Amino acid sequence: MPTIQERKADHIRINLEKDVKASANPWDGIRLQHNALPEVDRGKVDLTATLLGRTLKAPIIISGMTGGAPEAQKINENLARAAEELGLGMGVGSQRAALVQKDLVPTYSVVRNHQIPLRIANLGIPQLVKWGPEETLKNARACVEMVDAHALAIHLNYLQESVQPEGDTNARGSFKAIESLAKVFRVPILVKETGAGVSSEVARALSRTGVKAIDVGGWGGTSFSAVEVYRAAAANDALHARMGQTFWDWGIPTPESVKQVVGAVNCKVQVIATGGIRNGLDAARALALGADAVAVAGAVLPKAAQSAAATVEELRFMIEELRTAFFLTGAQNLDQFHQTAQVLST
Ligand SMILES: Cc1cc2nc3c(=O)[nH]c(=O)nc-3n(C[C@H](O)[C@H](O)[C@H](O)COP(=O)(O)O)c2cc1C
Repeated sequence: MPTIQERKADHIRINLEKDVKASANPWDGIRLQHNALPEVDRGKVDLTATLLGRTLKAPIIISGMTGGAPEAQKINENLARAAEELGLGMGVGSQRAALVQKDLVPTYSVVRNHQIPLRIANLGIPQLVKWGPEETLKNARACVEMVDAHALAIHLNYLQESVQPEGDTNARGSFKAIESLAKVFRVPILVKETGAGVSSEVARALSRTGVKAIDVGGWGGTSFSAVEVYRAAAANDALHARMGQTFWDWGIPTPESVKQVVGAVNCKVQVIATGGIRNGLDAARALALGADAVAVAGAVLPKAAQSAAATVEELRFMIEELRTAFFLTGAQNLDQFHQTAQVLST
């Protein structure tokens, strides 16, 4: 069985070398109403957003991706530099690797060296279920401290767990595990899917646990089933190669998931849209559906593997595209955009 460190390195390598995207991107189907007389000065559009009590210069987060392998440290550093320079939020990948192997701590803690307005720690739901409440609390504190986090993300990844040979597929007790932690934890908790989406039923239940935000992490971007196809093929594991292929496109499309979650939580928790966001127009589409912010992973990873400057450039392009979408819908700021942006039924 490969070590966690090897698995983390595989994830980065496969994401960089192979096409692991969903077979379509659902944001393409969302068209916004154009305002031919916007009555707004584009240069004065204010993209500031408040998320989990922190102020971001634009409603964009770099989604938690990595840590736990030597090559991850440079990627996290480049992402952190970009988040600092542009005033965006940033998550790290699952920190379990560093809890079991202390020499991997710097691959995550490198983000502490940067003034990032919203730093997000990360743990997976399968671990919480296994650990039980006391150990979960201890480890959650350690993860937050490791990256000096303002929030903790609990990722939901049962699709990925089902299609990988080393997967944890006993999900009984998951909800209780989140609830027990959310009740006592002093740092805000965000629950995030990782590519298969959150339904209205799950969102409604989560909104009663004390979590402060839900990241819908829907279908349409990076497919972890696809990643597992390549890992399984390399390990001559026919069952999991087949399983990954079959479930490559499993999940709730991100726009549909945003609509379901926004409708279900009734402003009690904040909503983040992740999954297939490629540019600032996709971000605007997600915000128009009611999301408070968006997060990007696959679109910035290749840039972060190159350099901090390439990452900054990519995110700056996204910010400028988002500003243009605000301008062309006649919105001066995020509040106005939420009120005025209309999605056309095509
Ligand atoms: C290389 C890679 C590693 C990832 N690792 C994690 C992880 O450890 N924890 C997590 O919560 N999400 C992880 N994700 C999922 C992303 O946060 C995000 O939910 C997903 O990639 C969908 O966004 P995208 O379509 O913009 O890529 C990872 C994504 C990538 C590309």
